[in-house]
Amino acid sequence: MSEAFWQFPARHGTPDAAREGAWYTSEREIYAKLQLEPAQCVYTYEHETTKRDRPRSLKMAIAFPDLPYAHDALSPAIGSETLQTHHGKHHKAYVDKTNAAIEGTDLADASLESIIAKADETGNAGLFNNSAQSWNHAFYWHSMAPTSEGPSGDLLDAINAAFGSVDALVEKLQSAGAGHFASGWVWLAADSDGKLSVEETHDAGTLAIGGKNPLLTLDVWEHAYYLDHKNVRPDYLKAVSTGHINWDFAAENYKRGSIWSYPSA
Ligand SMILES: [Fe+2]
Repeated sequence: MSEAFWQFPARHGTPDAAREGAWYTSEREIYAKLQLEPAQCVYTYEHETTKRDRPRSLKMAIAFPDLPYAHDALSPAIGSETLQTHHGKHHKAYVDKTNAAIEGTDLADASLESIIAKADETGNAGLFNNSAQSWNHAFYWHSMAPTSEGPSGDLLDAINAAFGSVDALVEKLQSAGAGHFASGWVWLAADSDGKLSVEETHDAGTLAIGGKNPLLTLDVWEHAYYLDHKNVRPDYLKAVSTGHINWDFAAENYKRGSIWSYPSA
């Protein structure tokens, strides 16, 4: 293998332009001369000009969390091939693109929630889409479980108060998801008084920021169900909402009363 070199990231906002793109022969040298933190460095090889993965000693700013269950755990509602692609390709791509966008910027060490909020505030659509989709998918994996026991306690009381019954809530999630135009997300959410509602967001829209506390979500992008149910979105929604809702996760979010935090790297 070629000898490893270190390069100062060209787009880093340094006042000393002469440092940008400069090469150094050791990790120690770049830290000593530039007084940098490891996360500000990009790992590359002498014979290549393209950026390579960071070495293991440098943490990624945003984590790519594992699925909380096996790929076949939700089958046949959601099959193994769907989860391998949806998690391993789609979700990973959103995380990778978010990390690439924040690298060397003042958001490099920010939480994912802060990145989403900043992208929304500044109208950075590319960063918003990738960061919000990173958050939405991690939240979605936890919103489902291999088996579903049904809600209880305070969450059950809140569901009955808002919708009349658990069955009525499930039907509302299904109808909202089936009727949602094009891509997006359907959510069960609580307001600051603990009152529940079913919400919809379009495309990468998220409840990770804003006034509602999301309790669970269902992905209604076509990539979530096409391999298992072709274009019949209602079949996917029925299979998931009647057999795989993680009510324990929803109850934890309801009890906490504040928005779930994306896992750190
Ligand atoms: Fe998705």
